[in-house]
Amino acid sequence: MENKNLVSITDYSKKEIFEILDLAAEFEKNPNQDLLKNKVIATLFFEPSTRTRLSFESAICRLGGKYIGFTEAASSSVAKGESLKDTIMTVANYSDMIIMRHPIEGSARWASEVSRVPIVNAGDGANQHPTQTLLDLYSIRKTQGTLDNLNIFFVGDLKYGRTVHSLLQAMSMFENTTYNFISPEELRIPDEYKLFLDKKGLKYYEHRDFSDIIAHADIIYMTRIQRERFSDPMEYEKTKNSYVLKRDMLASTKSNMRVLHPLPRVNEIHTNVDENEKAYYFTQALNGVYTRQAIITHILGLKK
Ligand code: CP
Repeated sequence: MENKNLVSITDYSKKEIFEILDLAAEFEKNPNQDLLKNKVIATLFFEPSTRTRLSFESAICRLGGKYIGFTEAASSSVAKGESLKDTIMTVANYSDMIIMRHPIEGSARWASEVSRVPIVNAGDGANQHPTQTLLDLYSIRKTQGTLDNLNIFFVGDLKYGRTVHSLLQAMSMFENTTYNFISPEELRIPDEYKLFLDKKGLKYYEHRDFSDIIAHADIIYMTRIQRERFSDPMEYEKTKNSYVLKRDMLASTKSNMRVLHPLPRVNEIHTNVDENEKAYYFTQALNGVYTRQAIITHILGLKK
């Protein structure tokens, strides 16, 4: 085991990423195993979640482990003013690993510095969502057969979208990725990520619309415009319906192109796409169980 914590996708090497993806493929074939017998895992969600929390809890149950935790800060002693440090130090006494989602960027890194058990970042504000990235990579490799030479379109909220930030960094580890960033002006990909790609000499393009270039995509990664990240509700109203992917738009796309979305969606993918063979987002969410089984067992040193 090279890393005790998973806070940022950049904590993992390419080799370690492939180990996780290969392990996830094993769990897909055989998801019910007793590897977490006598292990207690804490799931601390200070922000709402459906997929991340429940796929982690499903992963734990299928491996014979137990989980404890809370689904909102209001039901914990955080509501009485307890600090994150005290919460983490306490829960570390009760568990073998802490999986946490928190609205503040950097909170998982901070927790990893005070915890005596491994910390897994299940999303920290607009910063990172590395376990989502690993399931995204699993989904991309499964549908494309490779992680090299891919043209990936990121569409929607590229400013606050933590899944975009983590995935673009991960894709930089593979050969010859081309990035197309499609967003409203207000939600453009932040300069720090463009600088990251510039330093690596990687190609990226920014667009307001993608109807003319959609035929070149291998992956279209749709994202939600996130109401909860806006301090000005008018800015949200202005941008919320910027992109709606509809079935007829897929007609000119490559036969092997797949539409991914970390979900939840609001209306950025029309429901008439759901039955199309190029819609992969619900299978992507299923892949989260296998990938999270791989992450937990890898970090705990139960599987190599
Ligand atoms: N993809 C994702 O993080 O979904 P949830 O917010 O439902 O966990």
